[in-house]
Amino acid sequence: MTEIINGKTVADDVVEKVKRLTADLSSKHGVTPGIAVVIVGEDPASQVYVSSKGKKAKECGFHSVQHTLPAETTEGDLLKLIGDLNADRQIHGILVQLPLPAHIDSGKIIQAIAPEKDVDGFHFINVGKLGTGELDTAFVPCTPAGSMLLIERVHGKDLSGLNAVVVGRSNIVGKPMANLLLAANCTVTIAHSRTKDLPALARTADILVAAVGRPEMIKADWVKPGATVIDVGINRVPAPEKGDGKSRIVGDVDFTGAEKAAGAITPVPGGVGPMTIAMLMANTLVSASRAAGIERPTF
Ligand code: GUN
Repeated sequence: MTEIINGKTVADDVVEKVKRLTADLSSKHGVTPGIAVVIVGEDPASQVYVSSKGKKAKECGFHSVQHTLPAETTEGDLLKLIGDLNADRQIHGILVQLPLPAHIDSGKIIQAIAPEKDVDGFHFINVGKLGTGELDTAFVPCTPAGSMLLIERVHGKDLSGLNAVVVGRSNIVGKPMANLLLAANCTVTIAHSRTKDLPALARTADILVAAVGRPEMIKADWVKPGATVIDVGINRVPAPEKGDGKSRIVGDVDFTGAEKAAGAITPVPGGVGPMTIAMLMANTLVSASRAAGIERPTF
């Protein structure tokens, strides 16, 4: 029987642990984790993500602030805000929602965030720590970190001897995912749009991670029988069967087909998605724990 990996349950476990440890941190050390989420412009999808991050932070008992800035905000104004948040002792995590409007250099903004408050794990310092295996002090990007927890639920922490193929080479998912799998002793291949015979390569994977952003691209016959399939994709596609103008969310994997071949597989929605916010909460708690001088919790 194929195991359908329930990301919601694992995410709820993470959030329950964050809540418990947050209460401890506040009562025993007088430190309340603080997160600042910054959004520039009116992208509807970003607004939804940002509002659910704020809601979850409050549920965890965090001090949570949202800075909503107009689309015409200058790079200088945004840099000034980041500087203020870097200096704010009540804030342990800073997240600037991407994408930013085209006139703002996202790279410059990300590098302006203090690495010890970079709960997205996008700063060069954190990218470098992950790349060199300094996982104890790095912030790891939330989606790959959450995907790893789901993989651990199936295989345990040591992935020695397993072949992993990551389809997608983005800085937010593909590359950090590959580094995490490598740190767990997998043999890792990163595939992308220029890879030759992608289906054949995918079939070598004991762990197949799809992070390409192309709806249902990965088909059943790309999946090695018994493989663990982690679908990071969140794609909105038309669903005329639900009525005029309706849509639905699908992953990068053709779930109905792949489910038959896989040993374990994440659904979309309800797989990796819920893990991303849970890991953001975990990273913020870790940051606050460090600020309080206590050992970092692990998840
Ligand atoms: N936009 C889409 N995913 C992310 C993410 O993980 N972090 C930030 N800051 N923006 C995003």
